[in-house]
Amino acid sequence: MQNLSENQKQNSPMYISFCTQKGGAGKSVFTTLAASWLHYELGFSIAVIDCDYPQWSIHKLREREKEQITKNGFYKKKAYELCKKIGKRTYPVVPVQPETALTKANEFLATEEINYDLVLFDLPGTVNNKSVVELFFNMDYLFVPITTSRINMESTLNFIVTVSDIIQKNPQIRLKQVQTFWNRMTGRERQELYVAYENAMHELNIPIMQTRIPQSVRYDREQSISGNDYLFLSTVFPPDKPLLKGSNWDLFMNDF
Ligand SMILES: Nc1ncnc2c1ncn2[C@@H]1O[C@H](COP(=O)(O)OP(=O)(O)OP(=O)(O)O)[C@@H](O)[C@H]1O
Ligand SMILES: [Mg+2]
Repeated sequence: MQNLSENQKQNSPMYISFCTQKGGAGKSVFTTLAASWLHYELGFSIAVIDCDYPQWSIHKLREREKEQITKNGFYKKKAYELCKKIGKRTYPVVPVQPETALTKANEFLATEEINYDLVLFDLPGTVNNKSVVELFFNMDYLFVPITTSRINMESTLNFIVTVSDIIQKNPQIRLKQVQTFWNRMTGRERQELYVAYENAMHELNIPIMQTRIPQSVRYDREQSISGNDYLFLSTVFPPDKPLLKGSNWDLFMNDF
């Protein structure tokens, strides 16, 4: 957070992205959860730039949630109370195309009245695309989810080693560091496996976060259509406290 306050002083937000070379790895889910935690729980000013055209999953989640709040009295009251408590509204989710994402993000930030602390970019599923590569080299930090699957591990490590090599040789690049974390831990993996992988990553100079994210259905849990259930994944609310237990999300955000 030291860097964050340095950035704040210069009024230029930090750019962050959850990123992998692999689709369906949790990029949009972690982007949403991190944005909501930082904005609603920790009081930072956050913006999300949804670059995953035409999927736009975070933008569409926000639209679904807005509609749901107009129809469902429970969530409407909950949104009103949260807004009153924290004294601010929801964070913006700006849908853009990857080719123009940086320009659009800068235009958006220039026209906003407030200074954002942090901008989270949700990137498309693949990195086999020039504009996506350009985008992630223009972040300040990348956070890469990894699993203990051998195939996933090998391709992800290759990806990180390549990216780290490029940023080391090109100091003018904005990207400063690639940070990894374990996702979808099932409890069936043996502890030795993590230790062996973490040792290998240490040798390669790849940092890994302490907190591991378990495999859990709550990572998909949005507002319910008719009811008043607890929710976890939302652009309007932070995760409900009872669902935080065992999710490791609060611990993960402390590391973050
Ligand atoms: N720890 C977890 N436990 C359970 N489900 C998870 C976990 N992490 C991710 N998922 C699930 O994986 C699915 C894919 O997640 P998400 O849409 O965030 O991936 P993505 O990387 O953004 O995909 P895409 O490449 O299509 O944009 C979602 O259904 C999400 O809930
Ligand atoms: Mg996505």
